[in-house]
Amino acid sequence: MDEKKVMLSGIQPSGDLHLGNYLGAIKNWVDRTDEFDNYYFMADMHTITVRQNPADLRRRTLEQLAQYIACGLDPDKNTLFIQSHVHQHAELGWVLQCYTMFGELSRMTQFKDKSAKHKENINGGLFTYPSLMAADILLYQPDFVPVGEDQKQHCELTRDIAQRFNSIYGDVFKIPEPYIPKAGARVMGLTAPDSKMSKSMPEGCVFLMEKPEDIQRKFKRAITDSDTENCVRYDPAAKPGVANLMSIYSAVTGKSYETIEQEFGGCGYGKFKPAVGDAVVECLRPIREEATRILADKAYLESVYKAGAEKASYVANKTLRKVYKKIGFVAR
Ligand code: TYM
Repeated sequence: MDEKKVMLSGIQPSGDLHLGNYLGAIKNWVDRTDEFDNYYFMADMHTITVRQNPADLRRRTLEQLAQYIACGLDPDKNTLFIQSHVHQHAELGWVLQCYTMFGELSRMTQFKDKSAKHKENINGGLFTYPSLMAADILLYQPDFVPVGEDQKQHCELTRDIAQRFNSIYGDVFKIPEPYIPKAGARVMGLTAPDSKMSKSMPEGCVFLMEKPEDIQRKFKRAITDSDTENCVRYDPAAKPGVANLMSIYSAVTGKSYETIEQEFGGCGYGKFKPAVGDAVVECLRPIREEATRILADKAYLESVYKAGAEKASYVANKTLRKVYKKIGFVAR
């Protein structure tokens, strides 16, 4: 029997999970669970590149695990783990820093954005973050890395680092492909359709655990467009707010833009916005209920992340040993 291909991805527990994380990444992970051998983690080591309150980081890491499972990631079919529990990430991260160029790191848009936002704390980790991300990925020899559009640049750098390493030492790393969804790859803010949805704009961001009435309020107040047409039509350049709502609706319901235009084209934004809100509420309701239930069972969560770390370490260690041997470290 052919071995299954491998998928791997992670999310920083730097804030509560939101609709962008779900549609851009997690939903895609869940939809392909049975086809692949899957590794998904909480990227807590990346999170400390920006100052965190320790108690909040710990709480959010466990909440994120409960939400992964509630979104449909069955721990029997997915290796779910906490990044800092698998020490090989830090070790390979260091090695790969030595194979990543200063110029490459300087061009990363996430670094530019975050260093502009956190001027008081432009630390070394923020700069070398992509080398650690390359290690996260390459340790597991994945075929695909399912992420939203904004992580494409980091995935491409990962490929460049892997190719550079392989060209010196032979085929050590598999070269992974980013795997980006058709709808939901870049969910924009509801209050600012020119910026991606993120936790830093609370009114424009829908969180997975949010109450239905709050979700509805945010969709009703979503910015549409200043044109007078008042017609639901997919035109991202002229109507970015409507296009964003259409892509959310499409990702959540599976309907095509054409079908959505036929359904709402004639009725104006007044009917469309609450309909998108309803669809999102119904999509998130079971996730919220299940996550609340799972989060109450701390022993279960612990059993999941411990088993996950054990399996992940085993796989990661194989790659790390190979790398250490190739670069000339003496075997233990
Ligand atoms: P992070 O934690 O910022 O985001 C996690 C995932 O959510 C996607 N995403 C979005 N997708 C669509 N629309 C949005 N508005 C939106 N906001 C976030 C991101 O593209 C991502 O897939 N560096 C990564 C975390 C990471 C990682 C890795 C990912 C660390 N190591 C290894 C993959 C493989 C990050 O900061 O994502």
